[in-house]
Amino acid sequence: MSQVISVILAAGKGTRMKSKMPKVLHRVCGEPMLAHVVRAAAEAGVDQNFIVIGHEAEMVKEAMGQSVEYVLQLEQLGTGHAVMQAEPLLQDFKGSIIVLCGDTPLITPETISKIIQNHLNSGYAGTVLTAEMDDPTGYGRVIRDKAGQVMEIVEHKDASPDQLAIMEVNTGVYCFSGPKLFSGLKEVTPSNAQGEYYLTDVLAILKQKGEKVGAVKVGDPLETMGINNRVQLAEAESILRKKILDKLMLDGVTIIDPLNTYIGPEVTIGFDSVIHPGTIIEGRCRLGEACEVGPYTRLKDTELGKGVTVQNSIVLESLIGDKCTIGPFAYIRPGTILKEAVKVGDFVEIKKSIVGNGSKVPHLSYIGDSEIGEKVNIGAGTITCNYDGLKKSKTIIDDGAFIGSNSNLVAPVSVGKDSVIGAGSTVTRDIPEGSLCVERSKQEIYNDWVARKKKKK
Ligand code: UD1
Ligand code: CA
Repeated sequence: MSQVISVILAAGKGTRMKSKMPKVLHRVCGEPMLAHVVRAAAEAGVDQNFIVIGHEAEMVKEAMGQSVEYVLQLEQLGTGHAVMQAEPLLQDFKGSIIVLCGDTPLITPETISKIIQNHLNSGYAGTVLTAEMDDPTGYGRVIRDKAGQVMEIVEHKDASPDQLAIMEVNTGVYCFSGPKLFSGLKEVTPSNAQGEYYLTDVLAILKQKGEKVGAVKVGDPLETMGINNRVQLAEAESILRKKILDKLMLDGVTIIDPLNTYIGPEVTIGFDSVIHPGTIIEGRCRLGEACEVGPYTRLKDTELGKGVTVQNSIVLESLIGDKCTIGPFAYIRPGTILKEAVKVGDFVEIKKSIVGNGSKVPHLSYIGDSEIGEKVNIGAGTITCNYDGLKKSKTIIDDGAFIGSNSNLVAPVSVGKDSVIGAGSTVTRDIPEGSLCVERSKQEIYNDWVARKKKKK
C-alpha cells in the first residue's frame, strides 16, 4: 500500500456537551473518543495521524501524547479550513489522506480500510463515505447524477426541498489524493449559509477540474455516529461495550452479566476466564487463562497470570502471577508485583512491593515499599511503617519468615530468613536469620483481682 496518513478533525468546542473539557476527550469505554478514532486508523494501517486541534488544544495534546502529530487551527472557520491548516506539514506528501472526525468513536478499522482500498483501486481523486439514514436531518446530502455518479455534497442548511428528501448523507469520512485535496481546497470559498469553508465543496471542485470522485457506503451507519451531547455519549458507550464483550465471549471468556460489566477496548483475556458482575477492567490489562474476576472488582493497567482469582478488590498498575488469590476487599496499588500463588486476603493494602512465591498476607495489613521473599507468612494486622513524615523507606522480609499478628515493622528494616516475630512487636532493628524477635512488655497477672475489687466496694 502506498503511504496513507490521516487528518482527524478535532478543533471544535462541542458546545452541546456543556463541558469545560473539549468534546473529543470525553470518554467512551474508558478512553477519549479521539483515542478510539486514532486506534481505528492505526489498525487500518494508516502510517501517521495528524490531529487538527483548536479549542482547549493543550488539553487534547496532553491527553493524546506524542504518538500523533498536531495541527493548530486557531479559529474554527469550517471543516475545509481545518484541513487546510495541515498543508504546510504535508506539502511534499504524495500519498493518500483519509479525513476522519474526532467525535466518531465507533468507526472501525474495517471501514477505514474499505474506503482506502476502494479509493486506491478506483484511482479517484476523492472518495466519500456515505450512509443511508432514516432521518438525515442536519447532515450533508450526497447529490448524484442520473448515472449515479457523485456530483457534490450539499449541506442541510444550503439544500433545496428536493435535496432535503435525499436519504444518502455524508458521514464526514473521506479519502483523497493528498496533492489533489490541497489544490482543491485552495478554491473553496465561504459563500454558503454558514459562512464556512466547507471541506465537502472539494468534491465538486475536483469534479469541475475533470477529476473523478466517488462514494463508498458504510455497512452500519451507527459506526459514523457523531457524538454531540451526553445522551449520545452514553449510547456510544453501550454500543461499544456490547461489541467488546461479545468479542470476548466468542473468544471463550464467560461474562456472567454483560449489562453490568465494563471492559476497555485494549484489554485481553485468556479463555475459560470468568468475569462476574460489577467488574471494571480498564486501560492496558492482560488477563491469562482461567482467571476468576469479580464480583465488584476494578483492574486498571494490570496483568494477571493464569488461574488468578480477584474478588471485590481494586488492583492498579500491578503484575499478578499465576494462581494468586486476591480479596475480598483488597487494594493493590501501583508498582506491586505478586509472584506465583501469593494470597492477599481481606482488608489488605499493598503498595509498590514485591511478594514472593507462595507468601501470604491474609488479613488486615498494610505493606508498602517492601520486598517479601518466598513462603513468608504475614500475620493479621501487620503494618510496614514506611513513612517517617519526610521520606519513604524499605522493608525487606526474607524467605520463610513468620511475622506475628499486629506487628509494626518500622522501615528501613530487614527480617532475616526463617526468623519469627512475636505478635504485637514493634520492630525497629534488623532481625538476623533464624532468630526470634519479641518486642513487648512482659505480661503481668494479678490473681483474683476482680474478686478483690468487688469486695472493696
Ligand atoms: C459535517 C459535514 C456534513 C456531514 C457531517 C457528518 C461539512 C461542511 N459538512 O457537518 O456534510 O454530513 O459533518 O457528521 O464538512 N471541525 C474543526 N474545525 C472547524 C470546523 C469543524 O476541527 O473549523 C471539526 C469539528 O470539531 C468536528 C468535525 O470537524 O469534529 C465536523 O464539524 P461539524 O461542524 O460538526 O460539521 P457538520 O456541520 O456536522
Ligand atoms: Ca457534526
